[in-house]
Amino acid sequence: MQIILGITGGVAAYKSAELARLLANQGHRVRCILTEAGARFITPLTLTSLTGEPCYGSNPDQGEWRANPSIEHIELARWADLVVVAPATANMLGKTANGLATDLLSTVLLATRAQVLWAPAMNSGMWENPAVQANMARLLSFGHGIVEPGEGVLACGEEGTGKLADVASIAEAIRFHGTPKLRSLNGRKVLITSGPTREDLDPVRTLTNRSTGAMGIELARAFRDVGARVQLVLGGDLPAPWGVETVRVRSAQQMLQACEARWADSAGLVAAAAVADQRPEAPAPEKVKKVQGPESLALVRTPDILATLSSSRRSDQWVLGFAAESQNHLEQALSKLKAKGLDAVLVNDVQGGRAFGAQVNTLTPLTHQGQHPSLGPLSKDRLAQEVVQWWARQLEIRENAQLQVIQP
Ligand SMILES: Cc1cc2nc3c(=O)[nH]c(=O)nc-3n(C[C@H](O)[C@H](O)[C@H](O)COP(=O)(O)O)c2cc1C
Repeated sequence: MQIILGITGGVAAYKSAELARLLANQGHRVRCILTEAGARFITPLTLTSLTGEPCYGSNPDQGEWRANPSIEHIELARWADLVVVAPATANMLGKTANGLATDLLSTVLLATRAQVLWAPAMNSGMWENPAVQANMARLLSFGHGIVEPGEGVLACGEEGTGKLADVASIAEAIRFHGTPKLRSLNGRKVLITSGPTREDLDPVRTLTNRSTGAMGIELARAFRDVGARVQLVLGGDLPAPWGVETVRVRSAQQMLQACEARWADSAGLVAAAAVADQRPEAPAPEKVKKVQGPESLALVRTPDILATLSSSRRSDQWVLGFAAESQNHLEQALSKLKAKGLDAVLVNDVQGGRAFGAQVNTLTPLTHQGQHPSLGPLSKDRLAQEVVQWWARQLEIRENAQLQVIQP
């Protein structure tokens, strides 16, 4: 993508250097526009060096409006696929919400037809001010996006909301706004389970598995990017992705409850969690002491989340399962597809430690029509995008087939 990064006059401007670098490393072309106040906090030299592109706007060497035969503000407005303002001052929000163009950045913001994304940062009193909130609401009503400021200790020493969102979240929001939406998933609620479950033996020991949750988190990001409203039920310790409503759970029973509460209003389920099949029959309330001689552990079955949700589904809901098998993986997956009444199973060959914790993975989709060409080997983020594209195509094929039945 070609991204304009607008940097306005707040202390958090130092973080925009990190953002510029991250975006450039992700392969984007990034051109920065500094306001005069922004240039008091960070220099054009830093930004140019990090992006390999000129830095525009308030620039001690060249000034705000450079003599340029191509009319710079229009050229930049057309060049951008996306304009992100991070950090965004109360002043810049107010100017753009009210159609004012008093410097290069505010003029580009009015002239551009590209998506605009705001990452506000300011003192919490300023952020909560009704004038600022009204300006923000007005910008959102124009179709602009926001990466909400976070809570914490602010540069002014106060504690409250107004802290610039972390750089990784801003990059996630840029990814979301830069991804074309897919008709069959846009605006639909998708429930995703991910990660390991943990079944406690006593207050310090637990039964779990080697899943990290990375694949399910990548799927959540990929479904989010094409417009799905993702609800992620997550086990394990990995951080929740930006823009995804995440519920953290520990045991299989908790995961089932969290899913059941959300299933009825979901369009589909992606069951990527590695749910423990067994749990200790009677978890001990206190730490179990060492004993002499052989020890054994009585286990009971945990609820089958995928089968439970699949059996209660309506005809307009779809269910995708995963099968992590270390032998006869296709036959095992086919029996899972049939026994649990799924629409598709993505088969993960975990022989020799593949998949769990690995960076690169391959998935083979299996539907009632048969085996589909494998997706991968790819990094988990790219693989998740392939899965989403593949599934969206299947949904469209299905919708077209239903239309033909209705209109012969
Ligand atoms: C030290 C300092 C820190 C500031 N931090 C912020 C801030 O975090 N957010 C904000 O909205 N304004 C902040 N301001 C005020 C803006 O710099 C001021 O409103 C300026 O006119 C904004 O101009 P700009 O929007 O063109 O960058 C700060 C001012 C100073 C002197």
